[in-house]
Amino acid sequence: MKKELKKNNIFKRFKDSIYTRSINPKKERDRIQVVFQSLALHLHPTMIPEKALKFSVTWGLGGMAALLILLQALTGILLRFVYQPFPGKAYDSIIYLKNNILFGDLIRNFHHWSGTFLVLIVFLHLLRVYFTGAYHDKRQFNWVLGVFLLLFVIFSNFTGYLLPWDQLAFWAITVSTSMLFYVPLIGDTLVEMVRGGSEIGEATLLIFYNFHTSILPLLLLAVMGFHFWRVRKAGGVVFPKSESDTENKLVTTLPHLIFREFVVALILIAVILLFSIFFDAPLLEKANPAFSPNPAKAPWYFEGLQELMLHFHPLFAAIIIPTFITLFLISLPYLKYDSKVTGIWFLSDKGKQTSKISAFVGLIITPSLIIMDEYFFDFSLILESIPPVISNGLFPFTLLLLLQTGYYKYIKIKYTTNKAETIQAMFVLNLIIFLVLTLTSILFRGEGMALTLPWN
Ligand code: HEM
Ligand code: HEM
Repeated sequence: MKKELKKNNIFKRFKDSIYTRSINPKKERDRIQVVFQSLALHLHPTMIPEKALKFSVTWGLGGMAALLILLQALTGILLRFVYQPFPGKAYDSIIYLKNNILFGDLIRNFHHWSGTFLVLIVFLHLLRVYFTGAYHDKRQFNWVLGVFLLLFVIFSNFTGYLLPWDQLAFWAITVSTSMLFYVPLIGDTLVEMVRGGSEIGEATLLIFYNFHTSILPLLLLAVMGFHFWRVRKAGGVVFPKSESDTENKLVTTLPHLIFREFVVALILIAVILLFSIFFDAPLLEKANPAFSPNPAKAPWYFEGLQELMLHFHPLFAAIIIPTFITLFLISLPYLKYDSKVTGIWFLSDKGKQTSKISAFVGLIITPSLIIMDEYFFDFSLILESIPPVISNGLFPFTLLLLLQTGYYKYIKIKYTTNKAETIQAMFVLNLIIFLVLTLTSILFRGEGMALTLPWN
């Protein structure tokens, strides 16, 4: 009680000093305060609902993502002073940066780890938005902008991955770009466009460098601005509203929200800084196009797709399924829902229950199918006379769609869920499948991409 009173007093003193004291333009401190206040109030409204301040409403994830993008731009600009985007010089410039530039290693590590955290945080933000139903009505289009932001973040990471020009970079980009060969009709042309030739080389590095340091950061900043504006236009974030007006009380953004954002920002920066001090960003020997490491793995966020390629024909694993997922994500807010619950985690008790069941099903089924496919089944051998694109592609893909449709109907009938809850159950099932595939590739694929289980 005493502590609470003291905290409120600090806030009150803060607030009074900001709102009731007259500003003296001749005083340096007052001028700084006005500039800071107007900067903060460009992004936020002056008043916000007190309930929206609770950390568990957003977990601060959108703000963290925005901060990380700014830090990426800052550390990226510093890296550019030393980095040279040419195959003969890139690797040496990184070694030079590590050995001869004050804090060079730390800045590189920071850029690397905050890039990794960024993918995780944006993904968690997507999950927060989805599971609180914050994609209906006025928020529909902002969800679509979000999907594009996620893609830009992934491609920023992907283009950055090649820049150190070591064995890891060279072969991860070789593996990932060769997935494009399987795009029907235009596959070869597409690979040539992305690589700037048939092989990864000087042109690829320059293309990736330009996308990484100019085009993608500009796109990110522009779409991010639009994204924030849409959050405000929709009336702020979603949270469980109360019937009584006293509980929907408004408070001033400054200091309440800004103070909290400041604390979250400091903690996030401290965590990444600690990471960067203790863990070096990976750097193997200089790229050698003549020698491929075994296994040659894609960057970690594409390892789920690489794992899928071991089970499906590449046309399905690398092109059709990812396109399906992206289109599904974009169209999610536009499906016709019979109820539009917002601000409540997992929509309802039934939503929670069916999500748990789907998570459980995903956790059991995915590893079982992976093991069965590795040791017991090979559709292309069973259906030997049929082309692999059908026996290993169309056939298992259709089977998967039928199973998913069956599961959809099962959840709907057995638990009498509404459309939003049933789609949520499917979302959870596929989320778990994707996570298990990714973790399997990261943790359990060894030489020749064979399954290396702890008891093997
Ligand atoms: C969302 C934004 C960004 C992400 C996710 C990102 C991610 C990455 C990643 C993963 C690497 C490879 C680091 C390594 O392991 O060595 C990298 C390298 C690099 N990035 Fe970025 N980056 C971003 C923005 C920028 C910007 C805005 C610039 C410059 C204007 C920049 C400049 C560089 C440079 C010069 C390198 C090569 C140095 C190195 O590899 O250590 N980055 N970036
Ligand atoms: C660079 C990546 C992103 C940044 C910097 C970003 C930033 C933000 C911020 C600061 C908010 C305000 C509330 C909060 O912090 O949660 C927000 C809300 C929102 N974001 Fe994002 N976001 C990004 C990616 C995404 C993605 C991937 C999606 C979904 C596909 C998405 C969809 C939304 C929606 C629908 C809202 C409104 C939520 C509500 O009203 O509660 N965003 N975003």
